[in-house]
Amino acid sequence: MTLVVTAILHESAHAKINLHLHVTGRRPDGYHLLDSLAVFAGAADHLAVHPAEGIPGSVMLEITGPFGAGLVAESDSNLILRAARLLRATADADVPARLPPLRIVLDKRLPVASGIGGGSADAAAALRLLLRAWPEVRVSRARLMELAAELGADVPVCVDQVAARMGGVGEVLEAAPDLPACGMMLVNCGEAVPTPAVFRSRAPVFHPAAALPAGWADVGAMVRDLSALTNDLEDAACAICPTIRTVLQVLAAAPGCRLARMSGSGATCFALFDSAQAARDARVAVERPGWWVWAGGLRGEECGAQTGGTVGRA
Ligand code: C5P
Repeated sequence: MTLVVTAILHESAHAKINLHLHVTGRRPDGYHLLDSLAVFAGAADHLAVHPAEGIPGSVMLEITGPFGAGLVAESDSNLILRAARLLRATADADVPARLPPLRIVLDKRLPVASGIGGGSADAAAALRLLLRAWPEVRVSRARLMELAAELGADVPVCVDQVAARMGGVGEVLEAAPDLPACGMMLVNCGEAVPTPAVFRSRAPVFHPAAALPAGWADVGAMVRDLSALTNDLEDAACAICPTIRTVLQVLAAAPGCRLARMSGSGATCFALFDSAQAARDARVAVERPGWWVWAGGLRGEECGAQTGGTVGRA
């Protein structure tokens, strides 16, 4: 008998911000080894799963929202549908035929290909949603993290959406330093920057992993340490998309900005503030036609309030 999902389930897929990103080496397969402190902003895509008619175990995807227009739901490379395929393939052979068909609606509010892990966060949110909607698919925590890493280097950190130190190619996760409450602004100039091109054109130098303390008592202490670190992809991304330099200058000049830096492989840049309110107050000084600007706090509004249970069945 096929189980029927009656409730609509929701998940938020939060933007992942790399407070620093050091490229520490390169694997023989071309992937780069990283050291990065990743945090999650309040900004998020939203996913909802609805009951649907159709073949058992099938998933239809519908994309809406301000950044949904250019995305092709049926594309084979769509990470949400790939997540569904991986979960079905990992279940016992007789399970997929009993799974209720589903429709996932992705409300795309984060700019795409923009260095804040939107696609990765969506994939991780899809894994969380599908595990709730298909309780017959039993996946251990360790297997879930393997599936996430198969979907992309940034997907594992998005499974729990809590601040973490990323190592390996992104899949080795360690606890982040204790973070103070702080504000954040995100700015994207509207130009998509392809991640592989940025990695390809970076200067071939490696940078040691950062030495970070166990925690920071306030934003000032955190910014002092972060200022000594870098995003090693910033120059390469700026060469591909020079507007990133303008965004960084505008952010650095915003009232109350404590640090301005690019996230991931760009083009989105972030600024840190003493509080979410300070970030919101500075927003008007930064807005330009065609730019996406978001201001607020980290996920959970305060860094210190970033919590989250672990996903997966033991
Ligand atoms: O894993 P994901 O599909 O997100 O990576 C996209 C591309 O970014 C890879 O094909 C690779 O060119 C580059 N990349 C890398 N090193 C990483 C992560 C990504 O070189 N750690």
